[in-house]
Parts: sequence; structure tokens; C-alpha cells
Amino acid sequence: MAQKKLNIAVAGATGAVGNQMIRSLEEMDFPIQSVVFLASKRSVGRQLKFKGDLIDVQELKKDSFKGIDIALFSAGGGTSETFAPWAFKDGCVVVDNSSAWRMDPEVPLVVPEVNPHAVDRYTQKGIIANPNCSTIQMVVALHPIHQKFGIKRIVVSTYQAVSGTGKKAIDELFDQTRAMINFLDYQNNVYPHRIAFNCLPHIDKFLDNGYTKEEMKMVNETRKIMEDDSITVTATTVRVPVFFGHSESVNIETQEPVSADEVKTLLKNAPGIKVMDDPDQNVYPLATDAAGQDLTLVGRIRQDESIPNGINMWIVADNIRKGAATNTVQIAQILAKEYL
Ligand code: A2P
Repeated sequence: MAQKKLNIAVAGATGAVGNQMIRSLEEMDFPIQSVVFLASKRSVGRQLKFKGDLIDVQELKKDSFKGIDIALFSAGGGTSETFAPWAFKDGCVVVDNSSAWRMDPEVPLVVPEVNPHAVDRYTQKGIIANPNCSTIQMVVALHPIHQKFGIKRIVVSTYQAVSGTGKKAIDELFDQTRAMINFLDYQNNVYPHRIAFNCLPHIDKFLDNGYTKEEMKMVNETRKIMEDDSITVTATTVRVPVFFGHSESVNIETQEPVSADEVKTLLKNAPGIKVMDDPDQNVYPLATDAAGQDLTLVGRIRQDESIPNGINMWIVADNIRKGAATNTVQIAQILAKEYL
């Protein structure tokens, strides 16, 4: 039977993630009847391309969702908080890329390779949350290991691209880099310090416990997606002068003994993953390998020799694609295929 075609809205269509959502809807051949592109008042008058047609950008309003089946949101947390309930009122399911709803017990938080079954709880609030970019790529790689060997503890340090902050941050890295190599003055508008030729151990706001919000997202979202509160997680999240692609150094301690070879074999056969691990040939995942494609890349898989059951690895993915837009469209695909 042919799949039902759906009416889709993209809220935040003019942004970095919104733009990739549009491209992913095209690339993944989503069953579409019609599309509506929504953004702020500022973008009214702009047009965006979809499958060869130019579509007018409309202002996001409370009544934007009449007749829409699924709305993909990436327009900031405040916008999602305000508008997702209005979408629900009009019978539209929201797949939300912001952090606004992720830890709401009535909202599923989904990575299709890990917990696709959680989608069925979308009916409670009409919202499915897309996890934080750094968390998505980490759980894609760790879930198969957790299922087989049981993960007790995760220690992660991230090296995150500026595109995760949005279009203004991409411009800031570009402008600062150009200014510095020409010995010109530069401005810090997006980050509190210069990002060009620098690393900032500060992503999102600082919390009372000394961690940043981004770090605590990795702790709490990992447990929610893996459906196991016994896993302990500690994170240090760092912004680096890379445009696209988040990299992560991840150390795990497992319950059962595990070898690096077992992990390599397991991950080679796991969904959504490409193992790139041949140190003799200088093969390991780079942000430049990850950018522009949808797989999570894993390499540098090796024994942690400081503890009995430990593994170290390096995990890289395109933060705008698998870390945001692709994962959102994959969730919408499950909805379209199995629920709507
Ligand atoms: P606009 O381009 O009209 O400002 P990014 O994260 O790349 O900066 O993109 C943010 C996206 O969210 C943009 O599409 C932006 O639209 C949209 N956006 C931001 N605030 C609002 C708002 N209050 N209402 C609707 N869309 C918004």
C-alpha cells in the first residue's frame, strides 16, 4: 500500500537547522502532500526552495498549524514552548529540536537507532523531543555496547562546532578568523570570548553545580533515551573553532568484561554507524569526514588500561544533520509510517 502523503510545516525554516530539515525532507524522500515554511516576522518576503519550487516564508503564528500533520520545530526553546501547544490543539504533532520539552515526563525523547518504540507516547502532549546534538551521536554509538555489556559509567569530553549555536556563530568564526589573519580588530558578539584559534570550555549557561546546561543535558538525556537511570555520566563540553561536525572523546566502564575488538565488531554491525579505525593508515573519524553525511563515525577504539572493564573511543557526527535535522526527520518518518 502506498504511504499516505502528509502536510508538513518547518518552524525556524530560515535557520541553520531548519534549512537542513528542508534538505533532509527532500533527500529522505519523505511522503509529502504540502509544505509550509515558518519563521519570524523578519523573514516574511523571503522564499525558500523545495524540490525545485520556491515557497514563501510565512510568519509563525498560533493558527499556523491548521491542516498540518507534522511540524518540525527548530526556532529556539521559547518559541517551542509557546507554539507547540497551539499546534497540538489543531491536531498537529510537533517534533521539536529545542531543549524546551526534552525532560518533560510526558514527552518522548527519541533517537531512532536507540528507542524508536518511545514514539508511541507522542499522544500525551502531541510533542516528540529531539535530543541534544552531542547526546544523539554518543548514544547511537553506546547503545549497542550497553545492550551487550552493560554500561556503568560514561566520561565524555566534547569538541563542538560553532554551527550548533546557529547562523550568527558561523558568521562570527568566519569574521574573526578573517580579521585575525589580516591583523584587524574583531568583535565577540555570540560567545563571551574569541572563538577563532581558541577553545571555550563553556556551552550554554552555567548552573549552580558548576556544570553547564549542555553538560547536564548529556547526563540527563542519555539516561532518558537509554531508559536506564543507573548509568552515571560526567561531561565537559567545549566549543572549538570548527564550522560543522562535533567530535567526542568518550570513556566507558562496563559491567561485563569487554575487549576493543568486540566493540569494533559490534559497532560495525550496528545501525547508523561507520567504524573508521585503522591507526596504521592514519584512519580515524574527523569533523571533515562527518560533515555533509548522516552516519555517526567511531574510531580510536581501545582498551582503557587504567580499569578492568574500560573502553576509550572517538565519536564524530554532523551536528546539524544527525545531531539535529536528520534525527528529527527520522522521527517524523516513524510517525508517518507507523502512527499517522
Ligand atoms: P528568522 O530567520 O526569521 O529570525 P538559527 O538557530 O540558525 O539562528 O535559526 C533560528 C530560526 O528560528 C530562524 O529560522 C529564525 O527565524 C527562527 N526564529 C527565531 N525566533 C523566532 C520567533 N520568535 N518566531 C518564529 N521564528 C523564530
